[in-house]
Amino acid sequence: MTHPTPASLLTIFGATGDLSRRMLLPSLYHLQAEGLLPEDLRILATARTEMTRDSFLQLAAESIHARDPGARPDDAALQGLLQRIDYLPAGTDDAGSMQALAAQIQRLRRGDVLYHLSTAPKFYGAICQALAAHGAAGAGTRVMLEKPIGNDLASAVAINDAVARAFNESRIYRVDHYLGKEGVQNLIALRFGNALFEPLWNSRQIEQVQITVAETVGVEGRGDYYDEAGALRDMVQNHLLQLLCLVAMEPPARFDPTAVRNEKIKVLRSLRAIDQHSVTSETVRGQYSAGAIEGRLVPGYAEELGRPSQTETFVALRAHIDNWRWSGVPFYLRTGKRLPSRSTEIYLQFRKVPHSIFGGAAAADMRPNGLLIKLQPEERIELALMSKTPGLDRHGLRLSQVALDLDFHQEFRHAPRRIAYERLYLDAIEGNGTLFVRRDETEAAWEWVDAIAEGWREAGLAPRPYPAGTWGPGAAVALLDRLGHAWRE
Ligand code: BG6
Repeated sequence: MTHPTPASLLTIFGATGDLSRRMLLPSLYHLQAEGLLPEDLRILATARTEMTRDSFLQLAAESIHARDPGARPDDAALQGLLQRIDYLPAGTDDAGSMQALAAQIQRLRRGDVLYHLSTAPKFYGAICQALAAHGAAGAGTRVMLEKPIGNDLASAVAINDAVARAFNESRIYRVDHYLGKEGVQNLIALRFGNALFEPLWNSRQIEQVQITVAETVGVEGRGDYYDEAGALRDMVQNHLLQLLCLVAMEPPARFDPTAVRNEKIKVLRSLRAIDQHSVTSETVRGQYSAGAIEGRLVPGYAEELGRPSQTETFVALRAHIDNWRWSGVPFYLRTGKRLPSRSTEIYLQFRKVPHSIFGGAAAADMRPNGLLIKLQPEERIELALMSKTPGLDRHGLRLSQVALDLDFHQEFRHAPRRIAYERLYLDAIEGNGTLFVRRDETEAAWEWVDAIAEGWREAGLAPRPYPAGTWGPGAAVALLDRLGHAWRE
């Protein structure tokens, strides 16, 4: 295998699409502004839309502005980026256009090429075949793939097989944009940059773990995709399971692609299957009905979609990792649309003190310690401890829960807030796959999620309604209550 060198050409498929306009072009602009793009990097944008280079450059400039309308434009950076970009329309249904694209790729490349497929996944196979057929997929090329890789294990295998016919696995970079988030990498730093936590990071010390990815948005015009997917496939299969892996994995020997991904796959393979016999007790499905978000009335999911639907917009579940470290510790996962606030967090609750020396009122004050890792919108780490409540209490000591609180936006206030794709592009341009998902991870995650979806089908489990602006169906509270746990408020 030849060692990757920084890409000389980035080719974005689906360059006029929503992801490109909201995230990709603005990320490239930020990288340009900070001088982080390789000096000779060219960018070839392609999509099916017929348009000239000038019109695409205009679209790019508008997208960059729309991302941050209040920011002072950095004209030099914008011009610097636009000069790198070419646009060529192409579609897999038009062999001539793909041939012309491949010829343009060969003309523009000076070394390695990075392809970024930001189209519907059903085109991945055809795009890769066309690149291979025109000699544009060999050594020195790599490909970034957007999610969703399929909508179940069988379709994921089909996509992965098709891509594998053109690119070997070490040259395939599957995006889970959560891995590009600063807060998620900070979780890795917290676990493996501190000696303090490791002795506590196991079932002897930890009572339960909660991972919440809550959104206030609805389906935002993506109804057709979303209604096929639902929260389980759209969020749990990828983002939540990736977070679970990073929390639960063994320390990798190195921060490199093979070592990290070898540890993540072990976690996925240790997940206890949830099937038709356990879906009713271990999972909750919900779908939002009309309600209010931040004081604004919003319609229900079916109304937004324009037809009745049995798709879930909320999932809560209890996962178990059957290995030595985590045996017996429930991992509660929860995600949903139209919840009261946007919040991604991981919460580890420690076990109670083995014996309380405090009697009377202080005994009732006692709360278990907890470590909260907030990933967005704020990035903070909070360690909840018990402390004496100040006072000359003559009827016995009183205790209060206090937080050791590290707010990263305060601590590093001069550091710019990054779009996840800035990190992902930099790594993929340089050929570092650590923050990308390997084939076996995607497929193991699908296998686990498929069993749940199949279980729902067999058990006839329909989503329960919850009003928009609430934390999901009441059954999500009962799911934890059964073991004496409660969601962190
Ligand atoms: C995407 C999902 O992968 O992640 C969307 O398809 C979801 O439904 C989005 O809204 C959430 O990402 P973020 O970065 O806003 O938390």
